[in-house]
Amino acid sequence: MTDQSLWAAVDAHLTDALLPADPVLDAALRRSHDAGLPAIAVSPPQGRMLNLIARIRGARRILEIGTLGGYSTIWLGRALPHDGRLTTLEFDPAHAEVARANIADAGLADRVEVRVGAALDTLPTLPADEPFDLVFIDADKNNNPHYFTWALKLTRPGSVIVVDNVVRAGKIADPADDSPFVVGIRAMHELIKAEPRVEATAVQTVGEKGYDGFTLILVTG
Ligand SMILES: C[S@@+](CC[C@H](N)C(=O)[O-])C[C@H]1O[C@@H](n2cnc3c(N)ncnc32)[C@H](O)[C@@H]1O
Repeated sequence: MTDQSLWAAVDAHLTDALLPADPVLDAALRRSHDAGLPAIAVSPPQGRMLNLIARIRGARRILEIGTLGGYSTIWLGRALPHDGRLTTLEFDPAHAEVARANIADAGLADRVEVRVGAALDTLPTLPADEPFDLVFIDADKNNNPHYFTWALKLTRPGSVIVVDNVVRAGKIADPADDSPFVVGIRAMHELIKAEPRVEATAVQTVGEKGYDGFTLILVTG
């Protein structure tokens, strides 16, 4: 058994052991696949983790950068109270169309808005006086330093920021790797370390999506 197939088998086991059957999320993945979207959504256990973080935080306003077919959006949207709001930013109109259909089928259209465009263009259109309780950053990693800076601007003390895919199969620690995504993640971590208004950690993960990790940030000031 390869490492990857073992990680995928354990993910399947944990999903069966801990997560209820979820026809809505299964259908969302099927529609995304049928529409030709890449299979790069978070895994079910990761989606559940995002949902739990949002509920532990008591999030009423959530921002997501990088929607794809709305899989993580549905996990996060389900954590909201009825009057909660989630705004998710997506560059590709075809991805946004699939996401809107999946979000509607999940019964979340009343509290989730998909905004289409490059996130660096749509972020400045968000109201600065309605801070988000949780921000999930999962788009083009080269822009992560900008997304972190925006997330800080659009949150308040007590808010949580989660950034996905920050390990990239270990490339993050390879000094010879200067690919734009890796450089973007390193630069974001430098900004975080120098920023007195946050405390953060990063955790390596393995699973059906391979070897990666996430950064967890608490806004403290
Ligand atoms: C990893 S996928 C998001 C997966 C999704 N969060 C999930 O787990 O279901 C990244 C998404 O970010 C979008 N994206 C890439 N560059 C972007 C940009 N500059 N602004 C907004 N979205 C962008 C891509 O089109 C893609 O749909």
